[in-house]
Amino acid sequence: MTSAPLLRVRDLGVDFSTSQGVVQAVSGVSFDVRAGECLAVVGESGSGKTQVLLACLGLLASNGTARGSALFADRELIGAGERSLNAVRGTGIGLLTQDPLSSLTPHLRIETLLTEGLLDRGLATRAAARERALQALRDVEIADPESRLRQYPHELSGGMRQRVALAAALMCGPQLLFADEPTTALDVSVQARVLELLALVRSRGVGMLLVTHDLGVVAGLADRVAVMYSGRIVETATTDELFRAPKHPYTAALLAAVPRLHGVAQSRLVGIAGDPPQPSARPPGCAFAPRCGRAVDRCSDSRPELTASAEVSPLTTAQGDSMDGRAWPITAVACHRPLQDRAEIA
Ligand SMILES: Nc1ncnc2c1ncn2[C@@H]1O[C@H](COP(=O)(O)OP(=O)(O)OP(=O)(O)O)[C@@H](O)[C@H]1O
Ligand code: SF4
Ligand SMILES: [Mg+2]
Repeated sequence: MTSAPLLRVRDLGVDFSTSQGVVQAVSGVSFDVRAGECLAVVGESGSGKTQVLLACLGLLASNGTARGSALFADRELIGAGERSLNAVRGTGIGLLTQDPLSSLTPHLRIETLLTEGLLDRGLATRAAARERALQALRDVEIADPESRLRQYPHELSGGMRQRVALAAALMCGPQLLFADEPTTALDVSVQARVLELLALVRSRGVGMLLVTHDLGVVAGLADRVAVMYSGRIVETATTDELFRAPKHPYTAALLAAVPRLHGVAQSRLVGIAGDPPQPSARPPGCAFAPRCGRAVDRCSDSRPELTASAEVSPLTTAQGDSMDGRAWPITAVACHRPLQDRAEIA
């Protein structure tokens, strides 16, 4: 029996008003994240990964609008007011971004950055918040936390800043962590340490929505993966299944572009010929068709819907909640000609 999801996203869309009209950056995205589980969202630059996170937290740019539903602990986030969202940000859902320098307000000391969430919400006295900040720094293995509290973000190394940003994201004890490219800006040795810390956070029961370009990070941390292409999820599977037998040609191309799976530095998403379409100029059928070696006429005319895979092994048939009567399959692919076995994978 599976637990109810912490976060239940259904049919999420993000539109931006631009000088060229309204563009759909994200469309029809659905997934669940449960306590203690890590769902990785992967895909090339511009596929919509960050906008999914921002939409759930009500942090889209002013020209953006979110559609659909994102239920966090039975609270609807899409369309919620600032007050309601503020009650979730930090305390329910922590956010760790790619660039710790920009996520840590530069003119505030580390102590203020770490304690302001607790103090603003009246969740702790100043002394208790300071004590918690010291413990949070110890948890992310920052030496001499007392003196770090007096420093400003620019006085810390990149790796230390990301660990402080992680401490800040966890200060209010969130049930869920959104981690957007948490290791991209870091040296390889520091990446490994941050990954270990994220694994520790997850082992304490915190759910994780992890956005990354890096399939090495996925292999090391994620239980399940959602592959995004041009604003949509095109494949979702357990991490093991995805690496063992990708069904979408795009997923297979991503994996083929990785020199080896267990080498963080060597595993960026690179090397697929061609570019994804601009959101304003998607082809009418499958958005991957212009780059896909398996494309047939039908692919250019009709867009394939995400459909539960027929070859779901017993271990992966666990269905999502039935809160709206619709179970959410864990293994699904949006392709008219999905790959059937490894022999078909180029
Ligand atoms: N304010 C905006 N106005 C118009 N389009 C936007 C705006 N913000 C983002 N977009 C578009 O939304 C799409 C998805 O962007 P998003 O930031 O989610 O990509 P991503 O998958 O996170 O990419 P990366 O890996 O580079 O971070 C992109 O095409 C981007 O240009
Ligand atoms: S639907 Fe067609 S073009 Fe799209 S990924 Fe599948 S085979 Fe390729
Ligand atoms: Mg992004």
